[in-house]
Amino acid sequence: MADLRQLLRDLPVFGGELPVFDPAATPDDPVELFTRWLLGAIRAQVPEPHAMTLATADADGTPSARTLILKDVDAAGWRFAAHDGSVKGRELAARPYAALTFYWQPLARQVRVRGPVVREGAERSAADFLARSAGARAEALLGRQSQPLTSLAERDTAMAGAAERLADDPGLVPAAWTLHTVRAESVEFWQGAKDRNHTRLAYRRAGTTWTKELLWP
Ligand SMILES: Cc1cc2nc3c(=O)[nH]c(=O)nc-3n(C[C@H](O)[C@H](O)[C@H](O)COP(=O)(O)O)c2cc1C
Repeated sequence: MADLRQLLRDLPVFGGELPVFDPAATPDDPVELFTRWLLGAIRAQVPEPHAMTLATADADGTPSARTLILKDVDAAGWRFAAHDGSVKGRELAARPYAALTFYWQPLARQVRVRGPVVREGAERSAADFLARSAGARAEALLGRQSQPLTSLAERDTAMAGAAERLADDPGLVPAAWTLHTVRAESVEFWQGAKDRNHTRLAYRRAGTTWTKELLWP
């Protein structure tokens, strides 16, 4: 549609005050820089700065991507949780590799993370499940995510049933709930600029340390 094409072309990008990114003043470890950027996004009141795109692929290599909430990041990597029966859970079982993308729009910042994905043990997975809100626990307890649904009424009835089960047994944890850790092999930081002199800094794992290099934007 010509009008839509024009409308899209006219939309602004990289408006507002943008931070300066000096790659020469970055730490040796990308987790440290990611944490700085994430805390900066929280301070700048970026909406839902812990929302990220998780990309996985099935056994044939066909990709899928969806938005997910980051649960934690530390020296081991970037953590998220998923039901083993969901599409993402099944894809990770078939191919334990993922890519994450964070986009903090008001700051024109993007971070991309890639690497193998490791399943955490039952204890850590249970702790993640028990920290979820009542509604989120009920949804996960159903274990029906990504399956076809006949009607919204069916959803509501099943959710009420799951909420009741959890009220009767607050310590209930589905065995199929798994905390995953992306053990990053590469992490790329992208700082947008109004004049399009964007800055990209890529970290690559080299054994127990990291190398850093600038990339053409
Ligand atoms: C902001 C936002 C946050 C979301 N957070 C989660 C989440 O933490 N866990 C989750 O399973 N789905 C979350 N979703 C829904 C997923 O994007 C997706 O629809 C769902 O996980 C099913 O994906 P799958 O069929 O590929 O497994 C979120 C969606 C949005 C828009």
